[in-house]
Amino acid sequence: MTADLSTSSFLAACRGERPSRRPVWFQRQAGRSLPEYRAIRGTGSILQAVLDPALATEITLQPIRRYDTDAAILYSDIMVPIAATGFGVDIKAGVGPVAEAPFRSRADLDRVRPLDPDSDVPYVAETVRLLVRELGVPLIGFAGAPFTVASYLIEGGPSRTYTKTKALMLGDPELFGELLGRLADQAVASLRAQIAAGASAVQVFDSWAGALHPAHYERYVLPHTKRVFAGVADLEIPRIHFGVTTGELLPLMATAGVEMVGVDWRVALDSARARIPAGISVQGNLDPAVILAGWPQVQAEATDVLRRIGSHTGHVFNLGHGVLPESDPDVLQRLAEFVHAQPVGVAPDAPR
Ligand code: CP3
Repeated sequence: MTADLSTSSFLAACRGERPSRRPVWFQRQAGRSLPEYRAIRGTGSILQAVLDPALATEITLQPIRRYDTDAAILYSDIMVPIAATGFGVDIKAGVGPVAEAPFRSRADLDRVRPLDPDSDVPYVAETVRLLVRELGVPLIGFAGAPFTVASYLIEGGPSRTYTKTKALMLGDPELFGELLGRLADQAVASLRAQIAAGASAVQVFDSWAGALHPAHYERYVLPHTKRVFAGVADLEIPRIHFGVTTGELLPLMATAGVEMVGVDWRVALDSARARIPAGISVQGNLDPAVILAGWPQVQAEATDVLRRIGSHTGHVFNLGHGVLPESDPDVLQRLAEFVHAQPVGVAPDAPR
């Protein structure tokens, strides 16, 4: 049975409407911090795990059972489309996405072909269909933003400096633009398939865009991300735009054609709010490391987040980035309960 989501607190807050309770979910809520995940995950990379819709469904549901979060996020990865279309990427445990033969020249464009969701990633839509039958809350579908996916292809793996990516962006903007354009097409195809199968919101992760000068971001990256959001605009579901270390980019990210902007913990939520137009909701932004500090600290810091958002109802509580693997699930559960217990539209008064 498919749930009635018309009263969803998460969807209401995304749209800037008043939710019935304060919505909360946790980025990377599915996965390594959960013993029940480690019990069923098996070996092999996440790219293999997502081939099994029953397994991916169960992993997506695990955190919902524990935390009673107001949204689920599909267990998948931003690299699934580019891996499935044969670029040659793997996801190594403890490392992240790696490309044996990185993107170097125009000839490599042939390795970035269009995604046909039905034949390339049928298991993703199948997982979404299984999930929406089980879930009582909205399912968030997602894609990597063209820049963040491109950074893995160009660097060949995770990077601290993004030097090769920036060298290509500034040295051969035409080729860089063609690569990002192709990745934008893949993201649109992937998101449309997830929505057609039943996802009721989408988040685009531009996790590493914060490495860029705002002018470079605006010129070389934002147009492609805008195209991703425009590509799902007719489907009329909330669109979320998230990045890390993007404090300076927030005003630009808010122009991408989105209902909500996700904020990492390096910007206080009241200053983030001031950088984003009032009609656009915000999501965030507790530092994930706070979860490791003990409940009194978690409560104080979560209260601070809520105090900074004040009476603004267009807010979805989240961490400023993903759940750290060493997080105690009981603390996250208590945090979700605590957020749910705070009245909507009123700043908590416990001052710090
Ligand atoms: O719970 C969820 O958030 C849903 C699933 C999800 C995963 N990856 C599962 C995953 C989501 C939304 C992502 C997105 C993703 N993947 C991003 C954007 C979000 C962010 O954190 O900034 C990025 C940059 C990636 C690329 C990627 N994939 C990285 C950096 C890693 C971690 C490498 C490591 O082991 O430290 C992965 C692998 C990955 N994706 C794991 C999970 C649960 C861990 C490995 C595993 O359990 O198989």
